[in-house]
Amino acid sequence: MNKIRVFSGIQPSGEMHLGNYLGAVKQWVENQGKEKENFYCIVDLHAHTILRDPVELRDNIRSLAAMLFACGLSHEKSTVFIQSQVRAHAEACWLLNCVTPMGWLERMTQFKDKKEKLNSISAALLDYPVLQTGDIILYDADEVPVGEDQKQHVELARDIAQRFNNLFGETFKLPEPIIPTIGARVMNLSNPTSKMSKSFDEDDGGVVGLLDDDSKIVKSIKRAVTDSGNDIVFSDDPEKAGVNNLLGIYKVITGKSSDDVEKDFEGARGYGILKEKVAEVVLETIKPIREKYNEYISDKSELDRLLDIGAENARLISEPKVLEMKNKMGFI
Ligand code: AMP
Ligand code: TRP
Repeated sequence: MNKIRVFSGIQPSGEMHLGNYLGAVKQWVENQGKEKENFYCIVDLHAHTILRDPVELRDNIRSLAAMLFACGLSHEKSTVFIQSQVRAHAEACWLLNCVTPMGWLERMTQFKDKKEKLNSISAALLDYPVLQTGDIILYDADEVPVGEDQKQHVELARDIAQRFNNLFGETFKLPEPIIPTIGARVMNLSNPTSKMSKSFDEDDGGVVGLLDDDSKIVKSIKRAVTDSGNDIVFSDDPEKAGVNNLLGIYKVITGKSSDDVEKDFEGARGYGILKEKVAEVVLETIKPIREKYNEYISDKSELDRLLDIGAENARLISEPKVLEMKNKMGFI
């Protein structure tokens, strides 16, 4: 039987934060212990859909690579690679553009959100999900583990793959988004009704970066917005979004059931103890990652060697696939 193939991606658009880690990368690392074939991609072409400073982008790419290895991805158990180093991705994007109705892209909520927040937008921003579709279907991925915000893009990838298959004959597998039940949306600590995200927050006090120092992390958690009550229980009441978020973070990190998490805080008065405990488990998680990160980032040639191995592996699968697409579409 063929192994289940997993593909996911992350943008090098700034420091990795707790949301990326708990919502996505933690699952990627756990997948390595299962009988699966794993592909994890640093999607630098996606990052440039919002123009980047070249020097900063280059640093961000290596920094993210070091961070992924530090979080536990292994070049032996996974194919970890940089999207722009594997040409099939940009090429597949063009080919898929030809079969994608514009209206499908204009409907994407991430596009609509970003369009509102930016003064000017590139054609690439609209096209972003088509590039993402290519990433996924070039590898015939079965599973795409992502945070909830990406579900719509993976569903679009299915639709585009299906359309290509209908037009040119069976070519691609239809991928499934895999959303963790908890941790899928880590919210901003200062604004717990929006998700934790580096890109658009002017004030990043509500974002916990994996490279932030301990005191900054503790400060952000202590300042986290809660409510005027004192019940430490899971809740979908928007009023209690802050407490719910802190409990969610605690739950994913400790791996405890919701009942056990609530028991840990039974009888506590006020939210001080909750924040203290959350800060404690977050620091315990991040500290070893930060130490390993420092090792990886200080040896650039070793890091590049690991990424070369990944790119080489990725090409073995994606190049024949893009050729198959071109043949079926009538190119010579
Ligand atoms: P990005 O950094 O936007 O490329 O996201 C990389 C991965 O992290 C994707 O799977 C996202 O769904 C996930 N992710 C990003 N922000 C969050 C968040 N606040 N909570 C949970 N998952 C997230
Ligand atoms: N768009 C994804 C995000 O912002 C990143 C991404 C690009 C991705 N290509 C992918 C995720 C392919 C999963 C599969 O999080």
